[in-house]
Amino acid sequence: MTPPFIITIDGPAGSGKGTLARALAAHLGFDHLDTGKIYRRVGYDLLKAGQDPHHEPSALIAANRLTSSLTPEMLSDPALRDDAAGNAGSVVASMPSVRAALLEAQRQFARRATKGAVLDGRDCGTVICPEAPVKFFVIARPDVRARRRVDELSAMGLPAVYDDVLKDILARDERDIHRPIAPLKPAPDAILLDTSDISAEAVFNRALSDIARFL
Ligand code: DC
Repeated sequence: MTPPFIITIDGPAGSGKGTLARALAAHLGFDHLDTGKIYRRVGYDLLKAGQDPHHEPSALIAANRLTSSLTPEMLSDPALRDDAAGNAGSVVASMPSVRAALLEAQRQFARRATKGAVLDGRDCGTVICPEAPVKFFVIARPDVRARRRVDELSAMGLPAVYDDVLKDILARDERDIHRPIAPLKPAPDAILLDTSDISAEAVFNRALSDIARFL
């Protein structure tokens, strides 16, 4: 049996990696895992239980509990999109023990896919599936990413102040890029896609033609 074909897509918040991952998975008939949702879920579970996301032993227990009972529904809860879950997720994502506890579940997702899998996040090409034949690293200027996030929040009927959103994006970049474990960085063989000035459709077409060289 041929092993599933793996595509990894990494990049900072608001770069368009999620949009690209969903479109590619739907087009190719591949499974899709938004790995950020796993960290968000751990952070959210802690907040819901009234626990402090900065407390590593509690975060590790929450991570282990999640992997022992993980279902796709657990990652599709709309509450995970909130900034509270995003910030708590970012805190637990910087903990080595939590990352180690969540690693195998992400690898298994890729291995168990029937046809192929698209994984998006920060370390999918560098840590989770470094053997993936196709890896993308998606970037966009911070001002563009902040504008996208403001539009997304407004569409959800939530208040959003551009300057606050930009500040939040820069702070999260700082944490993701400079953390000692699994920092946000391109794999040596990653294909760089800058989405700042092109449409989601153009990004998709460009990625698809890159993938065609490997299929
Ligand atoms: O992409 P996101 O905002 O949903 O991710 C939530 C947090 O999880 C973010 O701070 C980065 C972190 N993350 C990570 O460290 N590694 C991943 N593979 C995915 C997300």
